[in-house]
Amino acid sequence: MKNLIFLLLMMTISMASGQNATIHVIPQPVSLQQLNGYYVLTGQTTIGYNRPEARNVAEMLASRIMIPTGFQPVVQQGSTGAIQLNLESLPEPGIGMEGYVLESSSKGIVIKANEAAGLFYGIQTLLQLLPEKIESRVAVDHTWIVPAVKITDYPRFGWRGLMLDVSRHFFTKEEVKKYIDEMVKFKYNTFHWHLTDDNGWRIEIKSLPRLTEVGAWRVPRMGYFNQREAPKPGEPATYGGFYTHEDIREIVKYASERFVTIVPEIDVPGHSMAALAAYPELSCTKDPDTRVNPGSNFAEWHGDGTFTMFVDNTLNPSDEKVYEFLDKVFTEVAELFPGEYIHAGGDECYKGFWEKDKDCQALMKKLKVTDVEKLQGYFMERVEKILSDKGKKLIGWDEILEGGISPGASVMSWRGMEQGIEAAHLGHDVVMTPTAFTYLDYTQGDPTIDPPIYATLRMEKCYGFDPLPEGVDPRYILGGQGNLWTEQLPTYRSLEYMTYPRAWALSEVFWTPAEAKNWEMFIPRVENQFGRSDIAGTAYSRAIYDAIVSTFRKDGKLMLDLRSEIPGLDIHYTLNGTMPDDHSARYVQAVEVPDGPVTLRVITYREGKPIGHLITLDRNMLEQRAR
Ligand code: ACM
Repeated sequence: MKNLIFLLLMMTISMASGQNATIHVIPQPVSLQQLNGYYVLTGQTTIGYNRPEARNVAEMLASRIMIPTGFQPVVQQGSTGAIQLNLESLPEPGIGMEGYVLESSSKGIVIKANEAAGLFYGIQTLLQLLPEKIESRVAVDHTWIVPAVKITDYPRFGWRGLMLDVSRHFFTKEEVKKYIDEMVKFKYNTFHWHLTDDNGWRIEIKSLPRLTEVGAWRVPRMGYFNQREAPKPGEPATYGGFYTHEDIREIVKYASERFVTIVPEIDVPGHSMAALAAYPELSCTKDPDTRVNPGSNFAEWHGDGTFTMFVDNTLNPSDEKVYEFLDKVFTEVAELFPGEYIHAGGDECYKGFWEKDKDCQALMKKLKVTDVEKLQGYFMERVEKILSDKGKKLIGWDEILEGGISPGASVMSWRGMEQGIEAAHLGHDVVMTPTAFTYLDYTQGDPTIDPPIYATLRMEKCYGFDPLPEGVDPRYILGGQGNLWTEQLPTYRSLEYMTYPRAWALSEVFWTPAEAKNWEMFIPRVENQFGRSDIAGTAYSRAIYDAIVSTFRKDGKLMLDLRSEIPGLDIHYTLNGTMPDDHSARYVQAVEVPDGPVTLRVITYREGKPIGHLITLDRNMLEQRAR
C-alpha cells in the first residue's frame, strides 16, 4: 500500500513537473537544466520583443507556430509577451554573438541574446522543445507543452557549413530555400553554394551571357554519373538551369533573414568545362567542340589521387583574356553576395595541357619556375588580387597550398586534415571539411542498399569528427562543413536523404562542446528527429538501423563480422539460402563462412521487430570485402 501511494505520488509529481516530457535537442545545448513544470502554448500566447532588431525573429516564430497549431499569436514590441524575445542592452558575457539563454516556466518563456542571431537559435531550440507535431504542415489538435528549462547555449565554431553542388544537378530557387530552411533548424550558419563545374554553369553573368545560354545546359542523360554516354554531335542540350541575378538576390535575402551567410563558389582554373563550352578560347586547347559534360567519363584516375584528363577543362593561366573574364565574373559575383568570402575552387586542376602549351612554358620561364604547379599558384594569386580589389577574401580547396598562396587566403581542407593543419601552421584561416568525416555524397549504409558512390561514410564517423586537431592554434580553425556533391543526386528528395541524419551529427560537431558529445545519448535524439522529419515530410536515411557487414581472413578461413552502428539491435542472419527472421541465428561473435556457394542474408531487429534493411551478399561479395 505504501509502495502504491509512493508510486502515485511520484507519478503526480512527474506529470505535474512535465518531467515525462523527454527533451531532445539537436545540436545538444552547452547547458540544459530541466526544471519542474511546463508552459502550455495556447491561442492566447503572445510573442513580445524588446527592440525592433528582434522583430523579424519574433515574426518568424509566429509563422512557424501558426501552421501546426492554427493559433494566430499576436506579435508586439514590449516586455509582456508570454514568449518574450529580448536583446540585451549590456552584452551578456560568455554567449557571444550567436548564443542565447532560454528560460521556460509555467508562466512563459524568455529568450535572451546579444544579437538577433542568438534569438533565432533560441527559437530553433524552443521549436524542438515543443511536441514533434510542431513540424506538421497542417493544423492539428494537440496540447502544446514546453517543459520548464534553463538553457544557456552558444556555438563551438563560427563556421558551421553545408555545401550544395548545383552543377552536377540543378536545383530550383525554391529547393535551395527549402534546403536553407532545413539546415537552420540545426543552427548551421554558412551555405557554400557550388555554382560552377564541368556539368553546368549556374549563375547568370550579364556581361558574359554565353555562360548561361550555353554553359547552363547539357544533353539529358540517365544512369550512373561518370559512366554516361558523351554528347553526340548536334544533340540538343536540354537539361539544366541557372539562377538569374534576381533569383540570387532573393535567395541571399532569404538566407540572411535566417542568419545564413552564402559563400558562392566559382571553381577555377580546373572544373571549368561548362565555362569552356561557352568560351573555348579560354583554355590552352581552345577546342570549339567542348560541350557541357552530362556525366560521361573524361578522366582516368590512377588510384593515388592523381589523374589524367582526356578533355581539357582548365583555364589557361598564361592568357590575359582569362583574367579579364574572371574580373567580369567576380565583379558580378561580388555585387550579388554580401559575405566576406568568395570561394574560387582550385581543386583537382589537371596541368597536363599547361605542360604542353608554349605560352604556359613561356610564362613559367618568365616567372622563373620549373614546376607547373607553380602556375596554379600564379593563377590563384591573380584571382586573389581580383577578389581583394572588390573587397572580398579568397577561400579555396586545399590544393591551392601546393602552388603557394598569399597570406590573406583561407583554405578549405578536403583531402584530409593534414592540409588544413599545414595551412593553420602557416597562419591561414581554415575550414575543416575532410572527405573521411564530412562528405555527404558518400553512401551512409551498405553499398548494396544505398545507391553506390565512391566511398561510404556512416553517421557514427561523422559524429566522431573533431575539426580542431591537437597542436593547432584554434584561432585559425574557423569551423567545419559537410559537403554534398550531387553526381548521383538528381532530385531534391535525394538531397535531403543524403544530408540527414548525418548533418544532424555534424551540427553537433560544429556547435556542441567536444566533451559534451556522446554517441549513445545522441541516438534517442536522432530517433526523435526521425519522427519530426516524418511529420515535416523531410527525407532521411535509416542506414543506422542496418547491419554493418565485413569479412576477414583467419588461418586461411573467411570469417564474417557483423556490427550495428547503434546499440540495442539484434542482428540475425542465415547462410543457408533462407530468409532470416528473429528465429535465425543471432550474431554474437565472428563466424566462419562455410566453403561453397554460400549467400549471407542479414537483418536487424529491435525488441522483436525488424528494423533494418535486409542485406544479401553472395560468396563473391563476401570474399571481396575481406580485409
Ligand atoms: C572536391 O571534393 N573536389 C573539393
